[in-house]
Amino acid sequence: MGFQHRIALLLFTLLAVAMGCSRPDDSPLVEEGAVRLPALPDEPFAYSEMGFPDLWLNDPALQLFGGFGDEIEITDAGATLGRVLFHDVQLSADNTVSCGTCHQQEFAFADSAPGSMGISGHVLHRNTPGLFNLRYQRRLFWDLRVVGLVNQVLQPIGHPDEMGMSLDALPDKLAALPYYPALFEQAFGDPFIHLDRITDALIQFLRSIRSTSSRYDQGLADGFASFTESELLGKSVFFRSDTRCNQCHSGLNFFATQPFINGLEVDYGQAGDGGIGDLTGDPADDGRFKTVSLRNVGLTAPYMHDGRFSTLREVVDFYSDGIQPHPFLDERLSDNGIGPAGQEPYRLELSEAERQGLVDFLHTFSDTVMVTDPALSSPF
Ligand code: HEC
Ligand code: HEC
Repeated sequence: MGFQHRIALLLFTLLAVAMGCSRPDDSPLVEEGAVRLPALPDEPFAYSEMGFPDLWLNDPALQLFGGFGDEIEITDAGATLGRVLFHDVQLSADNTVSCGTCHQQEFAFADSAPGSMGISGHVLHRNTPGLFNLRYQRRLFWDLRVVGLVNQVLQPIGHPDEMGMSLDALPDKLAALPYYPALFEQAFGDPFIHLDRITDALIQFLRSIRSTSSRYDQGLADGFASFTESELLGKSVFFRSDTRCNQCHSGLNFFATQPFINGLEVDYGQAGDGGIGDLTGDPADDGRFKTVSLRNVGLTAPYMHDGRFSTLREVVDFYSDGIQPHPFLDERLSDNGIGPAGQEPYRLELSEAERQGLVDFLHTFSDTVMVTDPALSSPF
C-alpha cells in the first residue's frame, strides 16, 4: 500500500470512528487465526481487457439480445475484488458457504448435485445453473423472476437456505477482515464498504466469466475439421428441421431469452414446481422455464430446473421419446412444429447412432479454458 493510500485509509478510519460506524473493539466480528487470506497475484489479472470476440459482438442475434449491464465498467481491481467476494465463505453467516460452493468453476459454475445445499442444510429445490456469458441474460433464475444482476447478487447472501447472512451486518463484517479494506480501496478509491460496492464488484466478476472457446468454436473457425463422425452426425441432428433443438437453444450462445414449456410433465404445478406459472397463475405458463444456454452442458450435469436427468443421454432419450402431452406444450416439440401450443408431442425415435451423436456433439460445447482460468478460480 502506498504512503498516500495509507494516509487515506487512516483518515477514513478516523472519519468512520468519528461517525460511529466502526465496531467497538471488544466485539470482534472476526476471530483471530480463523481467517484464510486470499492469495492474489502481484499484478492483477487484466479483466478490463478480456472481452467477447468480435464474432459475438457483431452477431446480429446477440446484438438483439443486448448487452445487459454494459454500463458497469469492469476494472482489474473491481473484478479482483469480485473474485474474492464470490469465493469467500465469510459472506455467509457461519463462514461455511460461498457463491463458489454451489457455483463451482470445474462445472462451469454449476453444481454437480441436483439440489445444492447452503448453510441451513436444506436441499434447494432447483438445480444450480452454470454462470457465464451473463452479458446476454437480462432476466435471471429458472423462472426469470429477477431483472438484472444488480437486483440478484445480494439475494443468495441474505437467503436463509443459501448463505443466511444479514445484509445489514455484512459491510461491517467485511471491514473487520484484514484483506477487504485494501481491496475496496483499490477497486473504488477508498476503503468504504457498502452493499452497492459489494454488488458492483460481484457483477464485475460475474460479467468476466465468459465462455466462447470450446471445440465447437474451433469448429466454427476451421469448418469442423477436427470433429469426429459421431459429433458431425450429432451436429446435423441438432440443426435438423424435425428436432428443432436450435430453434430454442439458438445462436452462438445456444439459448433463448424467452422461456418455453418443453414437456417434462403433463402438470408441473402438481408435480411440485410450476416455474413461471407459479408466479402468474396462468395455466399457459405452467412449467414455463428459462431456455438455458447449452454451452458447457457436458460439465453441468444434472439437467433441467430440478436436476432430474443425470446424464445427457437421458436428456436426449427424453427429447426423442419422452416429451409429455402438456396442454400448452411448445409447438416446436410437435410433429409439424407450427400451429397452436399443446399439440401432441413429436416422437423422433432417434437411432442409437443419432442419440450418441447428439450427446457427443453437446460435449463439444465444453469450454476447458474457462473452467481452468486462474482469473476466475478461488483465491483461497
Ligand atoms: C446454496 C447454493 C447457492 C449459493 C450459495 C449461491 N447460489 Fe446462485 N443459484 C443457486 C440456485 C439453486 C440458483 C437457481 C435458483 C432459481 O432459479 O430459483 C442460482 C441462481 C443464480 C444466478 C442466476 C443464473 C441464471 O442463469 O439465471 C446467479 C447470477 C447466481 N445464482 C449468482 C450467485 C452469486 C453471486 C452467489 C453468491 C453471492 C450465489 N449465486 C450463491 C444456488 C446458489
Ligand atoms: C421449445 C423449445 C425447446 C426445444 C425445441 C428444445 N429445448 Fe432443450 N430446453 C428448453 C427449455 C425451456 C429447457 C429448460 C426446461 C426445464 O428445466 O424445465 C431446456 C433444457 C435442455 C437441456 C438441459 C440444460 C441444463 O443445463 O439443465 C438440454 C441438455 C437440452 N434442453 C437439449 C435440447 C436438445 C438436444 C434439443 C433437441 C432435441 C432441445 N433441447 C430442444 C427448450 C427447448
